[in-house]
Amino acid sequence: MSNAQQPTDPVKKGLEGVVAGSTAISDVDGQQCQLIYRGYNIDELVGKASYEEVSYLLFYGKLPTRSQLAEWTRQLDGGRTVDPHVLDILKQLPIHAPSMALLRTMVSVIGCDDPQAEDEALESIQKKAIRLTAQTVTLVAAIGRLRENNTPLPPKPGLSHAANFLYMLHGEEPVPVLAKALDAYFVLLADHGFNASTFTARTVTGTKSDYYSAVTAAIGSLKGPLHGAANRKAMEMLEEIGTPEQVEPYVQRTLADHKRFMGFGHRVYKGADPRAKHLKDIAKSLGTTNETKWFVISEKLQDAVWNAKQLYINVDFYSASLLHYLGIPTELFTAMFACARMAGWSAHILEQWADNRLIRPLSQYTGPRGLKFVPLSERT
Ligand code: ACO
Repeated sequence: MSNAQQPTDPVKKGLEGVVAGSTAISDVDGQQCQLIYRGYNIDELVGKASYEEVSYLLFYGKLPTRSQLAEWTRQLDGGRTVDPHVLDILKQLPIHAPSMALLRTMVSVIGCDDPQAEDEALESIQKKAIRLTAQTVTLVAAIGRLRENNTPLPPKPGLSHAANFLYMLHGEEPVPVLAKALDAYFVLLADHGFNASTFTARTVTGTKSDYYSAVTAAIGSLKGPLHGAANRKAMEMLEEIGTPEQVEPYVQRTLADHKRFMGFGHRVYKGADPRAKHLKDIAKSLGTTNETKWFVISEKLQDAVWNAKQLYINVDFYSASLLHYLGIPTELFTAMFACARMAGWSAHILEQWADNRLIRPLSQYTGPRGLKFVPLSERT
């Protein structure tokens, strides 16, 4: 136990401030409020690099050359189609279950269907990761269409990852400004250090379990309202507020009820979440050609919560109006987060696999000791 934490060390509730491992994939700098992907500040990437380029960067550590990007795009294009018999299984599920539950189940189904699922070679895990990263948008669009009684659409080769999603959901090719907005959203949410879902994926990988198990577990973690479902909850909050005039009464009610403002606060950032300003700008520009109301309410709420509680917005706050302006149903929001984070989860699973050690922390036991067994007949 020489290098390990001694059981008498103070427990950091929620592992706050604990460095649980190392990674070269991304850095969440809470003091400087910066997010770095493989050496690049996200401010440097957003609006310039596509999700295709950023996913390659996260997987391989370098931005692709022109020919590498062409090959990568070809692989994503090739992987995006979901087998019809897998979609048939989706059709048999209760389609109005939470979309994250459906996605979690379908990743598991794809794992059961993959003859290479248990192949431990790093190249094999890489292939699975590329394919599943590509397929996730197809699955989520299919879930969205089935929920509206529409037939799922196959991906259209030649469209970008983001444009393909919007095409498969809405049934028509998006105008470039909408595809660009979703692409930027995917870039901004592609990775984020040892967040709860990524850490979950790494913990599962640490046991040398398979890639699909790690992603399935990560989806389960992202599904929670303190993590990825905050984007959906933020939209529900905006809908509940309804008009700009209702912002202040809502804030007062929430404070009085000791409830949380969804899309506010962060464990690591001590100031503004560096992704939020970009998402706000995109939501604002989409709002000008759409329904400005949601952006107006959001901005008013941001100010009111700041004045009342000095809480910063996080990534999920303006994700809500942004995704809404793209015509994405609120119920799919967290699954959209999963589409983006697939690249990050996959890169972390590969990194963990390549240099693995079982992740196994200690716990501080707080129960009784030394109890004597009492036979059932004598227990009261
Ligand atoms: N609304 C109201 N109060 C808040 C909020 C919030 N959104 N966030 C934190 N606080 C308050 C807490 O009530 C607590 O106050 P107290 O000490 O008086 O009780 C204090 O700030 C500290 O809160 P903790 O929950 O201990 O902070 P923690 O670091 O554990 O939580 C979290 C971080 C979960 C993100 C929290 O801010 C929260 O619940 N936010 C709302 C949900 C959300 O937006 N989640 C998405 C996070 S980003 C992501 O995962 C993609």
